[in-house]
Amino acid sequence: MTKISSFGKDEPDIVLEIEAKETKLVFESGIESNLWCYEGKILKGPKSTLKKAAGSYLGPTIEVKSGDKIRIKFRNSLKEKSIIHWHGLDVSHENDGHPRSAVKPKSVYIYDFVVENRAGMYWYHPHPHGNTGRQVYMGLAGLFIVRDKEEQNLNLPSNEHELNYVIQDRFINEEGRLEYRPSMMGAFGNRIFINGLSKNKFKVRRGLNRIRLLNGCNARIFNFELDKGKDVWQIGSDGGLLKKPHRLKKFFFAPAERIDFLFDFPDYSIGEIVKLESLPLVDGRGKKYTVIEFEVTEESDELYSIPTFLSNLPDINPREAANLNSPKRFELVPKRGVGWTINGHGYEENRYENEELIKFGTTEAWEFYNPTGIPHPMHIHGTQFQVIKRYPSEFEGCLDKGWKDTILVMPGDRVKVINRFNTFKGDFLYHCHNLEHEDMSMMRNFRIY
Ligand code: C2O
Ligand code: CU
Ligand code: CU
Repeated sequence: MTKISSFGKDEPDIVLEIEAKETKLVFESGIESNLWCYEGKILKGPKSTLKKAAGSYLGPTIEVKSGDKIRIKFRNSLKEKSIIHWHGLDVSHENDGHPRSAVKPKSVYIYDFVVENRAGMYWYHPHPHGNTGRQVYMGLAGLFIVRDKEEQNLNLPSNEHELNYVIQDRFINEEGRLEYRPSMMGAFGNRIFINGLSKNKFKVRRGLNRIRLLNGCNARIFNFELDKGKDVWQIGSDGGLLKKPHRLKKFFFAPAERIDFLFDFPDYSIGEIVKLESLPLVDGRGKKYTVIEFEVTEESDELYSIPTFLSNLPDINPREAANLNSPKRFELVPKRGVGWTINGHGYEENRYENEELIKFGTTEAWEFYNPTGIPHPMHIHGTQFQVIKRYPSEFEGCLDKGWKDTILVMPGDRVKVINRFNTFKGDFLYHCHNLEHEDMSMMRNFRIY
């Protein structure tokens, strides 16, 4: 069934205005940094649609339900072109924030879409060609949370037991100012910000908690473990809930990926600190560092348990892909004079290779191959896909379970994924979500016709 690109003559359930504008924020005592931020307004819909933490540079968290009809007016009050992309949402290409749709300063772009996605943690950020990295780094990003019945019926830890964190690194220079320093490797920071704030200590109540993370960094990959390798129960991924909880001790976490997990804080005494730490990506190379500290406070009065089953949504049957045994191959390589490329091609606004033309309604197998020494988190716009194979996979701990929109392709890895192209026709992007790689041309269009 082809979905329409918008909800036609129906009235939207929710109308928002999101403005991108310049602002100032103090990072170090007294020193002001120039930043850019998204400011949100609810023109129609429940108050709970937008949430913003005081003092945060991030855009407001948008929270909606599956099936909601949404209209968003994006107002560009920056001095350069921009456009918003709804990362992970299954929307038509007009609503996807394609670089082609980027609007000039003082202009407005109107999005009209139905939330087709399942419950999950999605996000939004700019997507103008060549400037995504800088615009995100300057502060333009926010969470987009979707809720649905299936999730609600599970009685997962909620309210103060549901903790959502956007993790970003930023470079604060000696003067105390934010500085964007891109290179072929990406832009890295010397500080970690959580939810747009420099504070990384949070209080948790004893008992089971639901923790959701978004890696909102431009380029930094984490190798996480919680409390020196205690078990966490992964319940969800980029595209919502897994079928059942999956036990993890340690996981790589690349830009744009999300993880949703349950963690039990029962054995800790009040006042104890539990650390989320990042280990070196390669054993013995570099030091581990703390990203979040949880302070266990009072006993929770709510009793939650880990569900045995989470979701009934069936996996994609690999045999659905006609090309299962001869997947389309995408090699992630640098090319002299172009920058980072996919199969030797940099970004082209209106050109398609054969493998980039896809018949509507088909299911295809794609294989990303990374012959370089640098990891590439690959993201495909449009619907969520699934990983069917990763090899030779020298690095253990990539988040491949469930429904994904971004997968980490480690050096030497081949990652085979399966994707249904059955929701919208049109032009969509696939690219490396190391935002400097993306801006240095590691991005292409594919066309569903
Ligand atoms: Cu999160 Cu095309 O990006
Ligand atoms: Cu995206
Ligand atoms: Cu890359």
